[in-house]
Amino acid sequence: MKILMVCLGNICRSPLAEGIVRHLAQEKKLDWEIASAGTGNWHIGQPADKRSIAIAKTYGYDISAQRAQHFNVRMFDEYDHILVMDKNNLRDVLRLAANAEQRKKVRLFLTEESEVTDPYFDDLLFDPVFKTIELRAKKLIQELSH
Ligand code: 4NP
Repeated sequence: MKILMVCLGNICRSPLAEGIVRHLAQEKKLDWEIASAGTGNWHIGQPADKRSIAIAKTYGYDISAQRAQHFNVRMFDEYDHILVMDKNNLRDVLRLAANAEQRKKVRLFLTEESEVTDPYFDDLLFDPVFKTIELRAKKLIQELSH
């Protein structure tokens, strides 16, 4: 199973989703490949935002080795699931899809139309964003592992 997490900058939200799901999947001995990417290209090659690295560390996850990459159309074929953090990401990724097969891989990371709030401009959002992503990550593993 190959899963790609997508947000705007690939430094705050999707690196958390990547690191948390990878960690939990490894704990369950699932042979999954997890990656993340941004629809924007500003942060290519950079580590995650230091606030995301710090909140992950607080809760026992190490995302410090991850580096940002820019979403590209080859990823539609490389991944089985492309999970996006908000509706802008959804629109931007779907706009790049070439066919229905690619489009059907893409959906929101959260359920029921919910979005993961962009925490970039508010330090206080990193804790609730982390908790939202971790809760969903645990459910996602259950859903996709059987
Ligand atoms: P992310 O947050 O999409 O969760 O990585 C952002 C990071 C950077 C920017 C916007 C959102 N930015 O404008 O640089």
